[in-house]
Amino acid sequence: MPDISKHFEPDKEIVVFHGNCINLLEQIPGDSIKLIVTSPPYNIGKEYEKRLSIDHYLQDQALIIEKCIRVLSPQGSICWQVGNYIEKGSVIPLDAILYPIFADHNLIMRNRIIWHYEHGLHCSNRFSGRYETILWFTKTNDYTFNLDPIRVPQKYPGKKYFRGKRAGEYSGNPLGKNPGNIWHVPNVKSNHVEKTEHPCQYPVELIERLVLSMTNEGDWVLDPFLGAGTSVVAAIRHSRRGAGAETVKKYIDISHDRIRQELNGTLRTRPMTRPQYDPKQSGKKLTTSPWISGNNSDQLDLLKENRTTDEK
Ligand SMILES: C[S@@+](CC[C@H](N)C(=O)[O-])C[C@H]1O[C@@H](n2cnc3c(N)ncnc32)[C@H](O)[C@@H]1O
Repeated sequence: MPDISKHFEPDKEIVVFHGNCINLLEQIPGDSIKLIVTSPPYNIGKEYEKRLSIDHYLQDQALIIEKCIRVLSPQGSICWQVGNYIEKGSVIPLDAILYPIFADHNLIMRNRIIWHYEHGLHCSNRFSGRYETILWFTKTNDYTFNLDPIRVPQKYPGKKYFRGKRAGEYSGNPLGKNPGNIWHVPNVKSNHVEKTEHPCQYPVELIERLVLSMTNEGDWVLDPFLGAGTSVVAAIRHSRRGAGAETVKKYIDISHDRIRQELNGTLRTRPMTRPQYDPKQSGKKLTTSPWISGNNSDQLDLLKENRTTDEK
């Protein structure tokens, strides 16, 4: 079983650095990391961050992004997963204000992936937030992208070409279709199988999709803001090498625990291939509304299964 190294060495397989990511980045040779994937602090006053002025926050991010670009392989990708920063009730999308930093370094944006989930705060003065984004950039046009390992089932696998030379043949790829750039993946809330003490984990399955598509076996995956170790877990699961930095000791301990469980095959995660949970289909009694008694309720109309196609 590989050991968990405390410092970066190119011949290691797993690195968990306790400290500022700037110091880890300085240990890494240039052009050597295939995928840098992370969710940085959002500057919203979580237990692991101090709220800064937005300019100060962006300066800190710019410095770290610059150091990440130095270590990124020419075939490599950077995925920066962010949500919103809220200032006096005004929503500031972090991806919008971080984008110019990447663009100024001539990185090429490949996708702005929408990560949609169902659970979160219920807002009363605006629509409840139910997505965050992943900004995906590459350093060059010669970048690794493997579509086959991340294909998802076709909606209409029985569909055939109806004219032209291939009329009558199945039109879809038998391995499945491209998952698109809107990903519906449950977020890690209290009842999620992956939940630890860390307040802001992303789910392993979200990162597995990036690891599988943007790296090959043996490549390095780096997370400068490692938190509970999710990115390294996703890397190990698919025979990649994983490195990360984290400043808070209790999260370092959680990362170690999860990585060891992953190595011995006991870490419980939500599988990448599991379909969305549908409480109605699962026959849960809480799906019956206590407020609906008659046939004239708007909510009842929304729930009706037998609406005509026009109504849908
Ligand atoms: C949004 S969380 C990342 C959570 C992670 N994606 C996971 O799934 O557990 C950001 C993490 O970055 C850590 N952090 C903040 N500044 C850091 C720095 N300069 N270097 C390393 N880690 C840092 C915080 O302690 C926090 O755990």
